[in-house]
Amino acid sequence: MGCSRTAIGISVLRTVRDLREWRGRARDVGLVATMGALHAGHLSLVERAVRENERAVASIFVNPTQFGPGEDYRAYPRDEAKDLALLERAGCAAAFVPGVDEMYPAGDDTRIVPGDIAARLEGAARPGHFTGVCTVVAKLFEMGRPTRAYFGQKDFQQLRVIQTMIRHLAMDVRIVPCPTVREQGLLALSSRNAYLSDEERRSALALSRGLQAAESEWQRGERDAKRLRSSVLAGIEAAGLAPEYVSVADPLTLRELDGRADRAVVSLACRVGRARLIDNVLLGMTLDELAAL
Ligand code: PAJ
Repeated sequence: MGCSRTAIGISVLRTVRDLREWRGRARDVGLVATMGALHAGHLSLVERAVRENERAVASIFVNPTQFGPGEDYRAYPRDEAKDLALLERAGCAAAFVPGVDEMYPAGDDTRIVPGDIAARLEGAARPGHFTGVCTVVAKLFEMGRPTRAYFGQKDFQQLRVIQTMIRHLAMDVRIVPCPTVREQGLLALSSRNAYLSDEERRSALALSRGLQAAESEWQRGERDAKRLRSSVLAGIEAAGLAPEYVSVADPLTLRELDGRADRAVVSLACRVGRARLIDNVLLGMTLDELAAL
């Protein structure tokens, strides 16, 4: 087989052929798709994939088609050796680390274009982003044929876009939504936090605090979407930040709510220094309910 092993033993698969060969020998396989620069958030997905499947594979691929012009494709943090060591320590059997030519053979202009669910929020802020995400995730599913694939709530719209894609295209894979891992219960872990200075990191805490405020109001019985949105916004603006959006939306369609909400996803995007950060909380619905859709 064409794969190589690190000193510590994880199989490093660099071609589709290697991945298929590796996949062929396992009954059930859990896939965690990543762009590397791994942190405890990614590793929580990997650990769950290891627990729930005969074997787990993580992909590491900074996917050029999901970055817009002027975004951070080139600057995106890359540290393969460190990522492989972390995966190995988490018990991951293999890492799929393809080059761009392996994922996008010369002349590849075939794309999967998601519909309405991808039109707002991140999709509106980053035109073409979810087309790139759907295309690469569909390729990874086809290449690795996972039984289960693990996605973080951190990127809530991405999770819903992918759940919708597999339903529409009748893809044979189970999507497992996993909770957001935070630093001391606050700042959501993100590879892009590496761009933050200490001071920016402190001011970024206002984002998760704002979402926590919405959560407490929800627990006290607040159901009005506008008031929930205003309370999040007020807290964040008081910290001197200007979010790109604060949204209170239906968790299934991601359409904005304006009256009474029975369940909601409160999400936001905000630039802090060089980093564009996103975060969200889910109200009146659990991830298990989302998984069962
Ligand atoms: P990336 O940002 O590397 O994230 C990989 C996976 O880790 C995603 O499912 C994401 O939601 C999850 N994740 C990130 N931070 C997390 C946190 N703090 N807690 C829990 N899970 C977290 O998302 C992508 O890569 C790409 O778009 C990808 C799906 C790999 C397609 O290129």
